[in-house]
Amino acid sequence: MLGAKESFVIKSIEFRKLGTALAAFAFIAAGCSAGGANTAPVATTLPTVTTAAPTPVAPAATTVPAAMAAPTATTVPAAMAAPTATAVPAATATKAATVALAPTLAPTPTACSVTLTPAQTEGPYYLAGAPMKASLVEAGMAGTRVILTGRVLTNQCVPVAGAIVDVWQADDAGVYDLKGFRLRGKVTADAQGNYAIETILPGLYPGRTRHIHVKVTIPGGPTLTSQVYFPNEGANRTDGIFDAAMLAKMSDGAGGVKMATIDFVLKK
Ligand SMILES: [Fe+2]
Repeated sequence: MLGAKESFVIKSIEFRKLGTALAAFAFIAAGCSAGGANTAPVATTLPTVTTAAPTPVAPAATTVPAAMAAPTATTVPAAMAAPTATAVPAATATKAATVALAPTLAPTPTACSVTLTPAQTEGPYYLAGAPMKASLVEAGMAGTRVILTGRVLTNQCVPVAGAIVDVWQADDAGVYDLKGFRLRGKVTADAQGNYAIETILPGLYPGRTRHIHVKVTIPGGPTLTSQVYFPNEGANRTDGIFDAAMLAKMSDGAGGVKMATIDFVLKK
């Protein structure tokens, strides 16, 4: 039997053990909270945090794509608009194509109402190899000054740049130079097909009305041989070769010079 004193000692000891146990429990409990960061349970807790993390990221990601989508959508249409705008140059190209075609197709055939220049006999007095010269007039040469001028065109009314107009004729007395190139010469049509050569009004000779012989050659193309006549000539009615289609239009030029205008239209 224990005495009251001994019983008290034992109870005190038991009580201390219990206190110690409680303290230890409290310590562990506190350790679990304070030292959790360095223990496995924390890692167990972190996944939870990590899991929570994606959640906020998700909205962010949702926002970003949205933002990305917006600019992209804005940019794409813009970029799409650009090609559309590029289509404008295409329209410009169409205009350019139209412009490029215009000289070839539009005005020319529409405004074209020319008649092919009739071919006429060369006659017995042509000499090949006449010189290139803008004036056949020589010092002291008798006769009324005439400038034979006009255009060289195709039957599509296209001016023939570089066409050669070869002219020969009788002098004021109706005589051809068969030994040289007097009153014989060639000129070249300009970029618009214009030609001009200064000469004199040809004289009359038996059987023929007043006329100038011509050979017109398109570069790389055919040569047309014909003759030019003058209005109000009595012999026009009796000349069997005369063709009214080859009558020049007469007008007065500067210095008393007569302008005899006629176009030459060749098939090409
Ligand atoms: Fe002649």
